[in-house]
Amino acid sequence: MAYRSLVLGAFASSSLAASVVTPRDPVPPGFVAAPYYPAPYGGWVASWEEAYSKAEALVSQMTLAEKTNITSGIGIFMGNTGSAERLGFPRLCLQDSALGVSSADNVTAFPAGITTGATFDKKLIYARGVAIGEEHRGKGTNVYLGPSVGPLGRKPLGGRNWEGFGSDPVLQAKAAALTIKGVQEQGIIATIKHLIGNEQEMYRMYNPFQPGYSANIDDRTLHELYLWPFAESVHVGVGSAMTAYNAVNGSACSQHSYLINGILKDELGFQGFVMSDWLSHISGVDSALAGLDMNMPGDTNIPLFGFSNWHYELSSSVLNGSVPLDRLNDMVTRIVATWYKFGQDKDHPRPNFSSNTRERDGLLYPAALLSPIGQVNWFVNVQADHYLIAREVAQDAITLLKNNGSFLPLATSQSLHVFGTAAQVNPDGPNACMNRACNKGTLGMGWGSGVADYPYLDDPISAIRKRVPGVKFFNTDSFPWFHPTPSPDDIAIVFITSDAGENSFTVEGNNGDRNSAKLAAWHNGDELVRKVAEKYSSVIVVAQTVGPLDLESWVDNPAVKGVLFQHLPGQEAGESLANILFGDVSPSGHLPYSITKRADDFPDSIANLRGFAFGQVQDTFSEGLYIDYRWLNKEKIKPRFAFGHGLSYTSFSFDATIEPVTQLSLVPPPRAPKGPTPVYSTEIPPASEAYWPTGFNRIWRYLYSWLDKSDADSAYAIGIAGVKKYNYPSGYSTVQKPGPAAGGGEGGNPALWDIAFRVPVTVKNTGAKFSGRASVQAYIQYPEGIPYDTPIVQLRDFEKTKVLAPGESETVTVELTRKDLSVWDVELQNWVVPGFDGKRYTVWIGEASDRLFTACYTDTGVCEGGKAPPV
Ligand code: BGC
Repeated sequence: MAYRSLVLGAFASSSLAASVVTPRDPVPPGFVAAPYYPAPYGGWVASWEEAYSKAEALVSQMTLAEKTNITSGIGIFMGNTGSAERLGFPRLCLQDSALGVSSADNVTAFPAGITTGATFDKKLIYARGVAIGEEHRGKGTNVYLGPSVGPLGRKPLGGRNWEGFGSDPVLQAKAAALTIKGVQEQGIIATIKHLIGNEQEMYRMYNPFQPGYSANIDDRTLHELYLWPFAESVHVGVGSAMTAYNAVNGSACSQHSYLINGILKDELGFQGFVMSDWLSHISGVDSALAGLDMNMPGDTNIPLFGFSNWHYELSSSVLNGSVPLDRLNDMVTRIVATWYKFGQDKDHPRPNFSSNTRERDGLLYPAALLSPIGQVNWFVNVQADHYLIAREVAQDAITLLKNNGSFLPLATSQSLHVFGTAAQVNPDGPNACMNRACNKGTLGMGWGSGVADYPYLDDPISAIRKRVPGVKFFNTDSFPWFHPTPSPDDIAIVFITSDAGENSFTVEGNNGDRNSAKLAAWHNGDELVRKVAEKYSSVIVVAQTVGPLDLESWVDNPAVKGVLFQHLPGQEAGESLANILFGDVSPSGHLPYSITKRADDFPDSIANLRGFAFGQVQDTFSEGLYIDYRWLNKEKIKPRFAFGHGLSYTSFSFDATIEPVTQLSLVPPPRAPKGPTPVYSTEIPPASEAYWPTGFNRIWRYLYSWLDKSDADSAYAIGIAGVKKYNYPSGYSTVQKPGPAAGGGEGGNPALWDIAFRVPVTVKNTGAKFSGRASVQAYIQYPEGIPYDTPIVQLRDFEKTKVLAPGESETVTVELTRKDLSVWDVELQNWVVPGFDGKRYTVWIGEASDRLFTACYTDTGVCEGGKAPPV
């Protein structure tokens, strides 16, 4: 076993390993996964210094087997890593999901990421993060497996876009950073995921027969779109990162030295640890060298056979010299330092729940065939008053797309007829389907790992009934065969849905992505709307949806007076909606993506999923920077509803000024050199450090880091003989690099966050009747004549006002950093400010990407209203 590790890498104990050694499939020319070695040590950023010195003290006392034990999960169904109990380092509990605590009782089912993004409200996004962090802490988890910013939302049909915040890098970035801040302030380590390019679910995973698809992304697009939210997350100190299932430019993300070593750890200066996505780890030595620090959930691709690519294999690979000890020390130090950084060495609660059962008692060794039974759930209620935050997010996300003749809000005295099964909670119960892998009743979240159990689901029909007890409810998705002719005063409210989720489940023919339903409403919802609109003269459509829908067959029908997107509201789907419908509050949500008139208004690379291909499926990002509104603007295609669109019951005026803050140079000032990092002995440790403890009772299918004495001894003999037999990848080196010019701190060169311009915007509620909150969105237009092709406008910051009474004003301030004015120069490998020498940037201020009427010019410092951007 040990000898084979030398030749093939540490995966060789699995008979399935052969799939890994097949050469990479070719990717289109120009898409490169360059080697980047060695893995940069962590610890050189000042704010992590204390955590790293504590970690150094602890790690230097660990044996080899203790070290390899904490770098891996102990097997699927465990959710935990191995421990070094002797030294007080516990198993770490890693738990989904991006919208709360998954697979647990007594938690809040918060609105999904896409809903949170639609609030465009930084305070609310942060408050949701705090609440999620509190719930994770209360349940005793160590690591929150969120937020998700990859997928970014490039493909409208993509299955997991709803876990993230919307199809724009800045919206994703700001929302992720605030979520991370909120969560981590509670002593919980957040995980930014999935690095990177996981823009569709189909063919995402490597398996013994086929590699995961290759997301082919060029360098500039990587930096300016897909990496942007990761950079902002690292900038606020995210503690862990998860690699994606797929490949990028031909190389699997879990062992992608350029992405992990080069981009994440060196350029972005990431100080935490990098974990693999579940069962995506396909090699042993290669992934270690490429910078992976934690192997989750510990098993090989095919779980439950007691095989791991690391654990005992990693012990062996260190003893035989394939994996340099400094690499293992760095992995372990990163994990331990992160644990210290978030104070988890002090009074951090231990997990008090089991993901495997909701009963009090359950299997103590869930992956074993035979296991003792004992108490596994303590039913700790962590909900506090978080329903209030959940409700506020659900409410302030509701996006009013259309409101003909100010038809909404409704009066409680009106005669209401409600259609659509989505108005009511699933009659089998809101948690009837595992991982919410069904679309029945109110749709509060998509499906897969990114869900939580509902403690209850406040459904729309209950909330409407509270206000209008006589409401008629037709609990059907097809228009009743016999339906009395409505009176002209009857108002119909039609609920429609569109669902999506993770590839591990197929729902109504959709295998994660919306590959079968596409952009149509499920359950013939569009037909229901059309039929209702034939009979009723006033129809309101409410959509619970993971993303954009094709509204064309009914949206222009004059009977359809109003269209509201609830997105995915989580447990608070009822009151949040009723508050808007009946005008207790004005809607203030804005679209976190564009809705086109035709799916092929986007190019094929965006509009369609990549289907089966022999070998590796290629998903080439040929549209480059031009996704969502960037593409539509460039091609002069008018969408049905543009990114950022969202109506209110009132109206607002915007009055802006612009203030220069920091004078910029072409590139950021030179970075500071890296600070010191922990120093350990690099001697191969004695084989005895990996021997099984005497009398140890092994449980089948659990993963351990110990070796039989004979295996450990022979690996050690090879290691100290110094015969290098491992077939190191090309470009391999063991000499630490100083790091690129674009780096220098967490997220990149610290000067990238210098504020270049500040734009205070005074917003006034110009309506007479309704209070409301305004969204202030700031888009940048680059100077003319620069040698870079740039999208016409790009979102760079946003703010939201408080509730403004008619006539009331508030000044909010949006900011533009050096990075916001930069482009990624692929030759210089740095962020360049093409207009640093006084060229005119225009900062567009407004309430949607297609409602930008105020232009602020950076060269003159003047802001003018009544302008329209050149789109
Ligand atoms: C998902 C991750 C998730 C993990 C653990 C994977 O299938 O892609 O997002 O965190 O499972 O459940």
